[in-house]
Amino acid sequence: MYNAFFGFTRSPFNMSPDPAFLFRSEQHEEALANLIYGVQSRKGFIVLSGEVGTGKTTMLECLRDFLNAQQIAFASLFNSRLTVEQFFEMVSYDLDLQCNRLSKTEVLLALNSMLLERANAGRTTVLIVDEAHNLEWDVLEEIRLLGNLENRKGKLLQIVLAGQQELDGKLEAPEFRQLKQRIALRCVLRAFRPQETQAYVNSRMTRAGLGNQTALSPELIDEIHLRSQGIPRLINAICDNLLLTAFAMETRTATLEMLDEVSADMRLDYPRPRQSRERTCSDQTPAPLDAPSQAD
Ligand SMILES: Nc1ncnc2c1ncn2[C@@H]1O[C@H](COP(=O)(O)OP(=O)(O)OP(=O)(O)O)[C@@H](O)[C@H]1O
Ligand SMILES: [Mg+2]
Repeated sequence: MYNAFFGFTRSPFNMSPDPAFLFRSEQHEEALANLIYGVQSRKGFIVLSGEVGTGKTTMLECLRDFLNAQQIAFASLFNSRLTVEQFFEMVSYDLDLQCNRLSKTEVLLALNSMLLERANAGRTTVLIVDEAHNLEWDVLEEIRLLGNLENRKGKLLQIVLAGQQELDGKLEAPEFRQLKQRIALRCVLRAFRPQETQAYVNSRMTRAGLGNQTALSPELIDEIHLRSQGIPRLINAICDNLLLTAFAMETRTATLEMLDEVSADMRLDYPRPRQSRERTCSDQTPAPLDAPSQAD
């Protein structure tokens, strides 16, 4: 809506995990390098975990681009709320297995021979599961068993599990001790640090066609960092709303007042800086003298 007004050629703060907007922060760069290395060197299990909205699906999209470019076969499950039957049906569909896709036994036989054939020809096959923290235990167990398939040169199927931090907890369960031992690589994504948020916002705006942007000042981006707590998805949502508000007010520079309005609309919950907490406290009935200070 505001693209032409600011001079963007495309929307800078879309919510989709689009690799075209990839910001290669150190941790994202490292995670992607690990995913690619793990898959290429047939490490077996690779786990990518992290807080909500930190870029896990974006990393998987980049990995899929890489696999497509290298013509590496993969099955990719983005909805992990599946029954065992649905799981095998989807894997066979993605890998184009020629068998009765509704029969687990047939799928397993076809998958086994496909994996062996590919491994013998020196080719890699990958299974990617996003939102893996939602996997049912029995599906996770099937995945564990698929991870056991190997020949003398290594694992036949490279398995990437991505999910929120509950995934790490799930893999701690006693019945998955063996799977946990077999995780060859682990990558964790965390929230951005303040400088990363600055670079992230500017990178997205540059990729959307506006280098050297002046719509969001460095001070305002610092405030956005605080209110989003460095979570990329929240940064996108705040910046998008902020640019929309500026556009509605016919100005090309967003202000702190606009950010306050956007934060209130979005019901953002963030740690208030000391000054504003003190201001809020002084608006209320004074605390007894021996009460601990709220600002500490
Ligand atoms: N490194 C990055 N470069 C560009 N955009 C990013 C990056 N990391 C995250 N984002 C953006 O943040 C938003 C959330 O990313 P994504 O959906 O990948 O997070 P997620 O970790 O999969 O979230 P969830 O836990 O909800 O599944 C998306 O709009 C995505 O484009
Ligand atoms: Mg995701």
